[in-house]
Formats: sequence, structure tokens, C-alpha cells
Amino acid sequence: MSSVVRRLGLALALAAPVAAFAAGSPQVKQAMTSAGCFACHAVANKIVGPAYGWVAYHYRGKPGAAVYLAHKIISGGTGYWNPWTGGVPMVPHPTLSLAQAEQMANWVLAQKPIAPPKP
Ligand code: HEC
Repeated sequence: MSSVVRRLGLALALAAPVAAFAAGSPQVKQAMTSAGCFACHAVANKIVGPAYGWVAYHYRGKPGAAVYLAHKIISGGTGYWNPWTGGVPMVPHPTLSLAQAEQMANWVLAQKPIAPPKP
């Protein structure tokens, strides 16, 4: 009996962080707000940059996506989204560490995937 309780406790302890990750960490969202990311991005629709839901859709299941996107967040530039943005570049964020940028990339990738409309 006590082992069942212990196993249940362990399952709950493991489930909690997974649930937080699926929605994206609120702390990381706060850091993104401070960094000005939401001036150009929304989750469900394009502002200047692509909707984060489109980004999650495009990179879902692609290994290395978080590291690639972290470098893009730091260095900025244009690329895949040009047909939707008209070639407006993402501004660089050179003051972010790679670890911070990777947390932001993972937050973006944890959003609900949305298929982008035809550009
Ligand atoms: C001045 C507007 C602007 C700001 C501020 C901005 N972005 Fe972007 N972002 C863009 C544009 C435009 C693109 C499309 C670039 C492209 O075509 O690859 C983009 C693309 C992206 C992508 C997808 C990159 C890819 O190669 O698929 C991610 C992820 C992203 N931004 C995250 C962020 C984060 C995190 C921040 C804050 C630290 C941020 N952006 C701030 C304009 C902006």
C-alpha cells in the first residue's frame, strides 16, 4: 500500500514539470515580455514576425530546432518566413545568453502548433 502511495507521489512529481513545459514557463514568458519579443510576435497571429504557433508548427519534431532558433534569436536576420514578412529581418538580441535564448526558443516550440496560412 505505502509503495503505491509512494509511486503515485513520484508520478505526480514527474507530471507537474511536464505540464508546465507544455504550456511554456510563465517565467520565460515574462523574460520575453521584458526583451520586447511580443512587440513583433503574438502566439496566434502574425504581427511583424511570424505567429509563435506557426513557428511551433514548422519546427515540430525537428531535432536541433531549439538550438537553431536560439542562435537566430541572438543574431537576428531573415529567412524562412520572408514570404510572410516581406523580408523584414528579426532584430538581433546580442545581450541574451545562449541558455536564455534556448529557453525562449523552447517556450515558442511549446505553443500550440498552427499551420501558417498561404503567404
Ligand atoms: C522588430 C521585430 C522583432 C522582434 C522585436 C523580435 N522578432 Fe522574432 N522575428 C521577427 C521577424 C521579422 C522574423 C522572421 C525572420 C525570418 O524570416 O526568418 C522573426 C522570427 C522569429 C523566430 C523564428 C525564426 C526562424 O528562423 O524560423 C523566432 C523563434 C523568434 N522570432 C523569436 C523571437 C524572440 C524570442 C524575440 C525576443 C527576444 C523576438 N523574436 C523578437 C521580428 C521580431
